[in-house]
Amino acid sequence: MTDLSSTYLGLKLKNPIIVSSSGLTNSAEKIQKLAQIGVGAVVIKSLFEEQINYEAGRMIAGSDYPEAGDYILNYSKSNTVDEYLSLIEDAKKSADIPVIASINCVSAKDWISFARQIEQAGADALELNVFFLPTEKEKTAQQYEDLYYSIVTEIKKHTAIPVAVKLGMQFTNILGLLDKLYFRGVAGAVLFNRFYSPDIDIDTLDFTASEVFSNSSDLRHTLRWVAIASSKVKNIDISASTGVHDAASVIKLLLAGASSVQVCSVLYKNGVTFIDNLIKGLETWMKQKNYSKIDDFRGKLNYGNIKDPTVFERSQFMRYFSNMH
Ligand SMILES: Cc1cc2nc3c(=O)[nH]c(=O)nc-3n(C[C@H](O)[C@H](O)[C@H](O)COP(=O)(O)O)c2cc1C
Repeated sequence: MTDLSSTYLGLKLKNPIIVSSSGLTNSAEKIQKLAQIGVGAVVIKSLFEEQINYEAGRMIAGSDYPEAGDYILNYSKSNTVDEYLSLIEDAKKSADIPVIASINCVSAKDWISFARQIEQAGADALELNVFFLPTEKEKTAQQYEDLYYSIVTEIKKHTAIPVAVKLGMQFTNILGLLDKLYFRGVAGAVLFNRFYSPDIDIDTLDFTASEVFSNSSDLRHTLRWVAIASSKVKNIDISASTGVHDAASVIKLLLAGASSVQVCSVLYKNGVTFIDNLIKGLETWMKQKNYSKIDDFRGKLNYGNIKDPTVFERSQFMRYFSNMH
């Protein structure tokens, strides 16, 4: 009997595949269907700080009564939050899998107190999608990094459920950052988020959006850092995200040390039933290799467990190119 179960953020997942935060997880019906197909867990579509502020701002701008501003701001905020809390409650009722809430945040201010309500609504864990563009050149890198620490420190005061941080790809010292997040109580890190990026239309001379979905070559960066982080930062669970488009990628990331593997673009492209393909592919491979459980091979090829860790580093890449004619 092949046991696909995995532990992530202290939660028991029946398999390591998680549908990541997106439009695929924005209703209880969709989450119920994902659970029926057999996914290990879901991360609900993020509640955006900007979304709340935008909605509040638009209503105030259209109001003839400026004094109503504070009231409307609070109403709009609680309305959006209430919808989100209902989504968590409904998802928990309709799907028998761990449900992870998600907040897209850029500050340690207003939204922090929502964390308690998210816990009360029944979320099993909370994923913080922290991202801001460092466009203020007067600020130091440390000041920007401190924002992550203050967000996590504040959130841990408001909730007892496990907290994961979903990170972007660009950090000078991501291992140091992960270590410090762990010491502030973070249980897991999602490596990596993929952001909505701009493009330019050279005919209309407009800014446009670039490709929203990842492709399979985007896996490389994820694979490298999952392998390094899972070995060097102990006690923090790594959830791999970006570029997972087939069962082989799931297997590679588990070998690299991931506790769970998140998928999004591949399901937009192939439909959510593709989850079954990922699960079956993993199971078939485990049987072929005579692995009866995930921990028989998880981390087997992480940075600490291989003879030549330079395969994860740049030198190997240079050697590769120097051999090309
Ligand atoms: C349409 C769409 C909506 C998304 N919405 C969110 C979101 O609300 N919160 C979030 O943390 N990530 C969001 N993401 C990012 C995904 O969760 C995921 O991290 C990213 O797409 C990389 O994974 P992939 O290569 O499997 O697509 C979204 C992605 C897409 C394509």
